Amino acid sequence: MCGIVGYIGVKDSLNVLIDGLKRLEYRGYDSSGVSLLCKETGNIKTIKKAGKIKDLEDEFKKNKPCKSHAGIAHTRWATHGEPNDVNAHPHGDCFNKISIVHNGIIENYRSLKNYLAGKGHKFVSETDTEVLAHLIEHFYRKDLIDAVKKALLRVEGTYGIVVISSDHPDMLVAARKGSPLVIGRSDNEMFIASDASAIIAHTNQVLYMQDEDVAVLTKNDIELSKVESAKSIDPEFVEIEMTLSQIEKGGYDHFMLKEIFEQPESLRDTEVGRLDKENGTARLNGIKDYFKKLLDADRIVITACGTSWHASLIGKSLIETYTGIPVEVDYASEFRYRNPIITERTVVIVVSQSGETADTLAALREAKSKGASVLGICNVVGSSIARETDAGIYTHAGPEIGVASTKAFTAQVMAFALLAIGLGRKKLLSFEQGLSLINELEKIPGKVNEILHDKNKIESICRKTYKKKNFLYLGRGFNFPVALEGALKLKEISYIHAEGYPAAEMKHGPIALIDENMPALVIALKDSIYEKIISNIKEIKARKGYVIAIANKGDKEIKDIADDVIYIPETKEEFSPILSIIPLQLIAYKIAVMRGLDVDMPRNLAKSVTVE
Ligand code: M6R
Repeated sequence: MCGIVGYIGVKDSLNVLIDGLKRLEYRGYDSSGVSLLCKETGNIKTIKKAGKIKDLEDEFKKNKPCKSHAGIAHTRWATHGEPNDVNAHPHGDCFNKISIVHNGIIENYRSLKNYLAGKGHKFVSETDTEVLAHLIEHFYRKDLIDAVKKALLRVEGTYGIVVISSDHPDMLVAARKGSPLVIGRSDNEMFIASDASAIIAHTNQVLYMQDEDVAVLTKNDIELSKVESAKSIDPEFVEIEMTLSQIEKGGYDHFMLKEIFEQPESLRDTEVGRLDKENGTARLNGIKDYFKKLLDADRIVITACGTSWHASLIGKSLIETYTGIPVEVDYASEFRYRNPIITERTVVIVVSQSGETADTLAALREAKSKGASVLGICNVVGSSIARETDAGIYTHAGPEIGVASTKAFTAQVMAFALLAIGLGRKKLLSFEQGLSLINELEKIPGKVNEILHDKNKIESICRKTYKKKNFLYLGRGFNFPVALEGALKLKEISYIHAEGYPAAEMKHGPIALIDENMPALVIALKDSIYEKIISNIKEIKARKGYVIAIANKGDKEIKDIADDVIYIPETKEEFSPILSIIPLQLIAYKIAVMRGLDVDMPRNLAKSVTVE
């Protein structure tokens, strides 16, 4: 999604801004731009370009950048107006005295635009952001902070903005409502960005702006107040845990591959301090005050999007199996529009890697407004969802940069397993059962490692299939959501049409598609429904389908039925998704590479979807 970087200090601001933009590339974008406050002329110099940041850099080289120690920059993911040079940010006022970068959506921009056009303002782009630049100009009477605040009081929608003015070359003005902004402080310089990864190369002292905050940054100082009040607020900086090496490729060709291989470690990080062998249970301090509420719940409703939704489906089965509490799973984008039934005893769990997904955030707010207790399962510490939920479980998977989510998924399933065991011990699980589950969870990271380092047949399978146009992914029970997730991974990065289905549903329709050109990936583990899934494989083979099975080590029968088999270690049926997804992640990755595609920045996708 769109990215923001701002800088004020003593360094060459263009270098800092371009470096920050490059660190935000993973979020997905289609154009970028920079505005510099030029030291010698006192003017604002803006250059914007559709395409990659490299194109923007080339443009700056051609146009000789001015000497500058302050500026703002942006990567845009188009919402209002097509991705081209003009619609790219920053946007300016009529006289190039004000420049602004903006994440979010100004919902009432049409009426504001008509009003401002009537007053003689000239617009050059189709964007909502340009309207905000002119609105600030409209209110500007030599006091930039006042003009920004007055403008923000007139807008409906969401924003994370940074504004500069040639009349105020020593300050950046920032404000947030619904779109994250983080400020970084160092000696003689201040940074601001939509995502901490853009600034951690410079500082680990950060301040997460809250909704309605307005920050005025000079190179040595920060003044914080609210949009509706001039009263100053004490700025509270914290030390960020993220390190630079976590957001670099570390020798891997792509972030996605690095993150797939990080899973043994990220899963250990999710478990650490939470496996309580003495009591045969899981310890989740973050939600301990809500445990009783969960145990007394009439229903638990889990809501999320994309991969997090798939993890939630597994979470449902885990919680229902160990506790008997009914669980529903809803797409966050549907939840808020269908007037969900929430009673005082309903507990809602929102699941999100980024903690910034607009649909999930809106579902959270809808659930809260209906009086539900809302818990979160989140990866990004301090994110909007983490802050707005009543309590939560951090997955601690570390920064996920690849657009296709991998380690966040397995960490979410692990978090659900821990939650289900913790609750289950107060419901259906004995001490012995709890302990046996905890002991098995402890072995999972090692088993993931085994799969990752197994010289299995994935490479040759991908060679055989990477030119195919359609794939079918089949699984049952706990592994049906894995089929959905495997198909999503392939679609996202290889642009191959793929469908995930419950294996037995295949004969109710998709079986019509089966022929030798449609590979079927079938998760066929030695579990309670093994015999059923073997029958499903036979149905495919009878129609000349090509079957790739994910099976347990030691399964001899499957070799004679499937065309290719990828073996994974055995585990308890309910934890098997954490293992069975690994080959599917690798298959999606390798196929995309074989097709010559940009794995980390797939077309049209953004890492975190902050618009509805
Ligand atoms: O950050 P979130 O978990 O809230 O994101 C939800 C989806 O947008 C995300 O999982 C998306 O589907 C990924 N690109 C999947 O790989």
